[in-house]
Amino acid sequence: MTTTSLQLRAALSHRILLAIAGAAAIAACGDDSSSGAGASGQGGSVGEGAGGAAATGGNADGGAASGGAPSQGGQGGGGATEGGGGSGGAGGEQDVERCFANPNVGVACPTISEATRIFLCTADGERVLAWDSGPTENADMCCYQVDVSAPNDPSCGAVGRPLVVDAIPRRAPIARGRGPRGSWESSSSSPRLAGLTAADRAELARAWAEEAAFEHASVASFAKFSLELMALGAPADLVARAHRAALDEIRHAGLGLGLASAYAGVALEPAPFEAASRVAIARVPEEIVAAVVVEGCVGETLAALVAAAQHAVASDPAVRGALEEIARDESSHAELAWRTVAWAIRSFGPSMKTAVSAAFDRAFASFEQSRPSSEVARHPHGRLSGEEAHAERTRGLADVVLPSMRALLA
Ligand SMILES: [Fe+2]
Ligand SMILES: [Fe+2]
Repeated sequence: MTTTSLQLRAALSHRILLAIAGAAAIAACGDDSSSGAGASGQGGSVGEGAGGAAATGGNADGGAASGGAPSQGGQGGGGATEGGGGSGGAGGEQDVERCFANPNVGVACPTISEATRIFLCTADGERVLAWDSGPTENADMCCYQVDVSAPNDPSCGAVGRPLVVDAIPRRAPIARGRGPRGSWESSSSSPRLAGLTAADRAELARAWAEEAAFEHASVASFAKFSLELMALGAPADLVARAHRAALDEIRHAGLGLGLASAYAGVALEPAPFEAASRVAIARVPEEIVAAVVVEGCVGETLAALVAAAQHAVASDPAVRGALEEIARDESSHAELAWRTVAWAIRSFGPSMKTAVSAAFDRAFASFEQSRPSSEVARHPHGRLSGEEAHAERTRGLADVVLPSMRALLA
């Protein structure tokens, strides 16, 4: 880990803590630096402002094929039929078909042995527990009979700010683009490919495409957040920052897709995002702000710290450049979330403070149930192991989120 990387990591933590301290002061003292009325009319404001390997995809949103793009985590690395016949667990399913985008476009689908390392979770966050048979090919999709956990498995967590629809973080399938370059792809994402095998490239393409899919979903999440801020009567500064954050997420998706496309050797881009058409805006202020606590104060704070940790281990210049940009932006998004919650507490009074406290409690309880994924580390390319990412989140929760929450609610 270089000195520069350590400095970035420390600077991000420090920045978030400072921002939260400022937000807490605003919540406690009512220091207005921009005006705006809360929906309660009490006023209050917040200022400051693979050798052809392809990636993931799938049928995230109920298209013809089931299953979809693998998410983070899962059981990768296991034997081909490890756990075969095992239970899907509470709410899980056994011997069901799940389909994934072919990671070797134009080449045969991965064997089960290969698939265990590549397809870890489905688009609905089901962890693949056992591989029963397959593959069968359907267009560019590779389908398998598998046993899966219940959706939203703790080891299949979203990256960054999720778009939650029907209680599940959603994302668009990532599919092969029609042109020589993906329509979302950033031109600056050209990692070094020398020395990588086709299998290495397939795994890196899948990992970066998956991360890009969540960044792409964050664009929709911030669009929703902007509407919720309007519904709450939030000040213009917060609404403006929410829109700027959505533009940041478009860049992040492009950076991730650029890396994924380069590793895949084919242009990749998001397919239509069906879940975006099913977004509902909450009507109760406490519900809206509780989601900001979980998705922003906790989710984006940890996303910023994990991105900084990825940057700290990466050596590829293109990967480091992308991660530095993402880490800095995510810390700004985290700051926006904390300031929004501080504004809401000040504007809506004791019932909001109670709701915020309960939302933090739920987020901590949920984290305690989470498990590290079995993602394999590929440090030069900015990929942490599942254990390392989980440890970073655990540290972030203890060192940044918990003290910040206490300051906010003091
Ligand atoms: Fe992002
Ligand atoms: Fe973000």
